[in-house]
Amino acid sequence: SVTTPLTIPPMMVSDDFALAFDIDGVLIRGGQVIPEAIDAMKYINGENPYGVKVPYIFLTNGGGKTEKERCQDLSRQLEYEVCPGQFICGHTPMREMAERYDTVLVVGGEGEKCRIVAEEYGFRNVITPGDIIKTRHDTTPFRKLTDEEYKNSRVLDLDAIQIEAIFVFADSRDWAGDQQIILDCLMSVNGKLGTRSETFDEGPPIYFSHNDVVWSTSHEHSRIGMGALRASLEALYKAVAGKELKTVAFGKPQMGTFQFATRLLGKWRKDSHDIAHPPSTVYFVGDTPESDIRGTNEFNEISENEWYSILVRTGVWQEGTIPRYPPKKIVNNIYDAVKFAVEREQ
Ligand code: G3P
Ligand code: MG
Repeated sequence: SVTTPLTIPPMMVSDDFALAFDIDGVLIRGGQVIPEAIDAMKYINGENPYGVKVPYIFLTNGGGKTEKERCQDLSRQLEYEVCPGQFICGHTPMREMAERYDTVLVVGGEGEKCRIVAEEYGFRNVITPGDIIKTRHDTTPFRKLTDEEYKNSRVLDLDAIQIEAIFVFADSRDWAGDQQIILDCLMSVNGKLGTRSETFDEGPPIYFSHNDVVWSTSHEHSRIGMGALRASLEALYKAVAGKELKTVAFGKPQMGTFQFATRLLGKWRKDSHDIAHPPSTVYFVGDTPESDIRGTNEFNEISENEWYSILVRTGVWQEGTIPRYPPKKIVNNIYDAVKFAVEREQ
C-alpha cells in the first residue's frame, strides 16, 4: 500500500487578523469552563489545518478580582497561559480615574476584595460599605457583617470623610444594604456621610463598571446583573429623592471600552508577536447581543479596521429569539467561532 507522507505546515503567526473573546457565556459558565473553549484555545494556538497561530485578547464585563488573579484562574481553566497584557475586565478602565478622586466608595464583589483592586489601581482612600456598617451598624438594619468582613473592614471618622465618587466595581452581594449606602451618599451634601442635602443635587457622581442587565451562569436562564442594580437604583432615587439620577457605565458596549481594547491589542501584538501594524479584522466572539454584538457593530462603524461580530449559542442569547443587535455570524460555540474566523481568512 502507498502511504502519503503527512506534511505538517510550519507554525506561522497571523499578522493580518486577531480575535477578541467575551468570557461569561463564551468560555466560562457558572465558574466552569465550557468544554469547547479548551479545543478553541488549541486551535488558535496552531493546532489547525493551516498551522496558523492567531493573537487574541479577552474583554469581559465581569470583575471583582485583580487582573493578575483573574488571569491565573483563566490560565488554569483554559489550559493556556493568559497574561494581564491580553486581558480587560469591567473595572480595568477605572484605573485611569484614580488620579481624579481622593476618597471613593467602592461597591460590589466578594468580601473586601474590590478594595484591594481599587488600591492597586492607585485610588488613595478607598471606603467600602463594610467600613460604613462597621462604623455605624444601624446604617443597614437587616445586614450584619460576617466575621471575615468585620475583620477586613475599617472604622471611619465619619465627620472627616467626604466621598468624591462612587464606583460599582462588581456585582453587589447585598442589594438592599449597598443601595441604602449608595443612596445615603447620593443624597448627602458633597458626599459627607451623615448629612442630607436639601436639593439632592450635591451628591458625588456614580460609575458602574458595566451595564449588563442579565448575564450567563450555570442556571438555564440568564441571571440579573449589574445593569439591573443600576436600573433599580435609578428607580429608587426617583422614589426617595424625587429626581432623575445620572449614572455612568463603563464596559461593553461603550465605545471607550472598544478603544481601550484596540490599544491593548496593539500593544499585545507588538510585545508578544512583534507585529507593529494593526490587524485588518478583529473577530469578537460574544454571547450577549446588547453588549458584545452592539458594541462590536457600532465600533466597526467608527474604527479604521473591521470589527466582525460573532454570536454563540452557549450564553445569554437564546435560539428562537431575535437578537436585538444582529451579529454578522451565529455559531454554536467558541470552537465553531474560531474555526469560522480562521477559515474565513484563508
Ligand atoms: O458580571 C459579568 C457579566 O455581566 C458579563 O461578563 O464576560 O459576559 O462580559 P462577560
Ligand atoms: Mg458574556
